[in-house]
Amino acid sequence: MARELHTIGVVGLGTMGAGIVEVFARNGLDVVAVEIGEAALERGRGILTGSTDRAVARGKLDPADRDALLGRVRFEVGLDALRDADLVIEAVPERLDLKRAVFAELDRVCKPAAILATNTSSLSVTEISVATHRPHQVVGLHFFNPAPVMKLVEVVRTVVTADDVVADVAALCARLGKRGVTIGDRAGFIANALLFGYLNHAVTMFEGGYVSREDLDVAMRAGCGLPMGPLALMDLIGLDTAYEILDTMYRRGGRDRRHAPAPLIKQMVTAGFLGRKSGRGFYTYEKPGSPKVI
Ligand code: 3HC
Repeated sequence: MARELHTIGVVGLGTMGAGIVEVFARNGLDVVAVEIGEAALERGRGILTGSTDRAVARGKLDPADRDALLGRVRFEVGLDALRDADLVIEAVPERLDLKRAVFAELDRVCKPAAILATNTSSLSVTEISVATHRPHQVVGLHFFNPAPVMKLVEVVRTVVTADDVVADVAALCARLGKRGVTIGDRAGFIANALLFGYLNHAVTMFEGGYVSREDLDVAMRAGCGLPMGPLALMDLIGLDTAYEILDTMYRRGGRDRRHAPAPLIKQMVTAGFLGRKSGRGFYTYEKPGSPKVI
């Protein structure tokens, strides 16, 4: 019988972390949302209120339910606030050294029974888990962007993850209305391993001057029935994140050339064209999150 997890901690309130906070709070769980400083905390709070206000404006969420949802979230600076959490999900930037440092600290702060999860999209969950003294209680919980909308969560089990921990988080995914799928600790897990070769190929085709961004994206929407074209999807994911994922998969996955990042991605990241979050990527956005193309 799966253990009930009541209080959820989320570390890192960027696009993914703030979206994950919303998923839990929408489903009636108490959330402690943590950042390293006040400015980052306020940014995270802004993402959450922006998303819930949009849902109210679209008539999808009652204002009273929005207030109840926000009332279930406690915003705190510093990991010490997570001492009572039953499960903590880390969603800090994709750097192994940073994630390992966060996990070592979580191991010190969190109660012994707490499950520690990482939302990493391409790093080794095993390498993160051995920064703690409880690697059997460490699991990957990989959400998809936008987290409140996408139905999938990849549950990543390492060779040491305990069976009951996998069962507990699988039951939690069901409670969130998500489809949980279980996968071992391989680079890119299931979806990113298949998706990013395609996205990278699309950038290469665009970079080669064969096709306009619009025609490339229309081809995959109108021809293949995808909800978004690959360049628009790169903008949604964030070009910096996409670069990190490709680079990690390239190095971890035996230098498969499908994952060697197209040079244009790095150039755009260096220029600050990160996609929706910076207002410009392959397309230009009036304000972050707004889907209007110039
Ligand atoms: N946050 C919260 N909700 C959002 C949102 C966001 N950022 N963006 C859209 N939504 C909601 C809308 O409010 C709307 O909700 P409603 O149906 O209750 O009114 C619903 O999603 C549909 O939105 P729109 O009508 O504005 O637009 P679309 O119908 O075009 O859908 C989309 C937008 C859901 C983003 C859709 O285009 C889509 O599914 N795109 C593909 C996304 C995808 O492939 N994600 C995976 C990326 S890979 C990844 O995340 C892995 C990681 O490791 C990088």
